[in-house]
Amino acid sequence: MTARPEPPAAASTGIVTGNVYEAAGGSETFVTLVERFYARVTEDQLLMRLYSEADLANAAERLTLFLIQYWGGPTTYNERRGHPRLRMRHQPFAIGQAERDAWLGHMIAAVDSLTLTPAVRKALLDYFETASTAMINTPAPR
Ligand code: HEM
Repeated sequence: MTARPEPPAAASTGIVTGNVYEAAGGSETFVTLVERFYARVTEDQLLMRLYSEADLANAAERLTLFLIQYWGGPTTYNERRGHPRLRMRHQPFAIGQAERDAWLGHMIAAVDSLTLTPAVRKALLDYFETASTAMINTPAPR
C-alpha cells in the first residue's frame, strides 16, 4: 500500500483549494445547514410573513439544491428550476435591511452549528453576506 499524498493544507492557508462542496462534506452538510436555517426561520415572525407555504419543506429543498449546485455539487437545482435568477425570484418578497439582517443572522448561526474548516466557513459566510445584501429590494422606511 502506498501512502496517499497529504491533502493541501487549505485550513492553514485560509484558502479552499478545489471544490467547496467536497471540502464542506458534500450534500449531507448542505441538507443539515438548510434544516437548521429553516428551523430558525420558522420561529421568526418577521421572515415568516414572507413565506406563503405553511410547510417550508419545498422552500428548504430548493435552497438546499441551489447551494449544492452553487458550491460545485450536482446541478439538480437547474434541472428542476432552470437558471437561478435569484434577484428576480425574490422580487415578490419585500426584502429590506431588517429582513436581510434576520435572514443572514439565522444563516450565520446555522453555519456555526456545523463543524467546518475555517476556510470553508469563511467561504460560506462571505458568500451569504454578499448574496443577502444583493437580495435587498425594498428601501428602509424614512
Ligand atoms: C436576504 C434575505 C432573504 C429573504 C428574506 C429570502 C426569502 C425567500 C423567500 C420568501 C423565498 C420563497 C420561498 C420558496 O419558494 O423557496 C425564497 C426563495 C429562495 N431563496 Fe431566498 N431569501 C433571502 C436571501 C436569499 C439568499 C442570500 C439566497 C442564496 C444564497 C437565497 C436563495 C433562495 C432560493 C434558491 C430560493 C428558491 C428559488 C426558486 O427556485 O424558486 N435567498 N427566499
